[in-house]
Amino acid sequence: MSKSIVLTGITTTGTPHLGNYAGAIRPAISASKDDNVRPFYFLADYHALIKCHEPERVKQSSREIAATWLALGLDTSNAVFYRQSDVPEILELTWMLTCVTAKGLMNRAHAYKAAVAENEEGGGSDPDKGVTMGLFSYPVLMAADILMFNANKVPVGKDQIQHIEMARDIAARFNHLYGEHFALPEAVVEENAATILGLDGRKMSKSYNNTIPLFETEKKFRKLINKIKTNSLEPGEPKDPEGCTLFGIYQAFATAEEVADIRQQYADGIAWGEMKRVLFEKINDEIMPARERYEALMQAPEHIEEQLREGAEKARKITMPFIQELRQAVGISKISL
Ligand code: TRP
Repeated sequence: MSKSIVLTGITTTGTPHLGNYAGAIRPAISASKDDNVRPFYFLADYHALIKCHEPERVKQSSREIAATWLALGLDTSNAVFYRQSDVPEILELTWMLTCVTAKGLMNRAHAYKAAVAENEEGGGSDPDKGVTMGLFSYPVLMAADILMFNANKVPVGKDQIQHIEMARDIAARFNHLYGEHFALPEAVVEENAATILGLDGRKMSKSYNNTIPLFETEKKFRKLINKIKTNSLEPGEPKDPEGCTLFGIYQAFATAEEVADIRQQYADGIAWGEMKRVLFEKINDEIMPARERYEALMQAPEHIEEQLREGAEKARKITMPFIQELRQAVGISKISL
């Protein structure tokens, strides 16, 4: 049986945090060890340019994300781990796909529509204010990422499902015009993936500025955990675990028995300070060995670079012949052939 191709990208604009870890990185790394799966994981640095015009930040984020995945034990003998910009065929495919994508389809993309809605609410005269062509055609770049490797399954957050549907539409259009070149990808949304709340009790997200970075120093990490917002119930008063940020995070790291035990302690009135200590210990134990590897990698970026170089080489073994096939299909080829 051929392996199922699983592909996902990580936009290089932020520092990996606990929410990214429990929701996306941890499951992706465990899939990298599954023999029935051929994973493609990449740093979506061209996607970063859509929303971030700070070169230092894009660079630093690429380094942090790569170091994070490697430190956490990504199996690069099975997974192909690369940087999008190291695979130029993706951009070439982006243009081919752009030329078969209906503008009307892009008009319906959530990210674009949200930008327009915000402008309209602001009452200005230009609904497209601040919208670059990069933002507008972002789903085409994402379709190229996916179709370039004929991915079957694409693990993403709920907010990205529409993009995968668009990739299918675009692939079907291309296949209709030029023959069956692309598999139609499916989104995989981990229904019970932990949604982790942030310091202020909203969803943990870099756009809310409420994240707990995964690889802080132990001291800073403890401080951040202590900053998580709780209600003002006193020690000894029974507490409700549902909707409690501390409990939610604990759940993402603990076994079912440990969770049941903490649930009981909530009923018995555990003090918030004590719960924060328990939470800190739990996560710190899981992360500590990886934190040391992370720091070592950040000090030796050439090791990261080496892994990405190997990844790009593996990726291009696929993309170089495939782009030739696609060029032929659309009629761009040597005159003499
Ligand atoms: N747009 C995705 C996000 O913001 C990242 C991404 C880029 C991606 N290319 C992809 C995800 C291809 C899956 C497949 O989360």
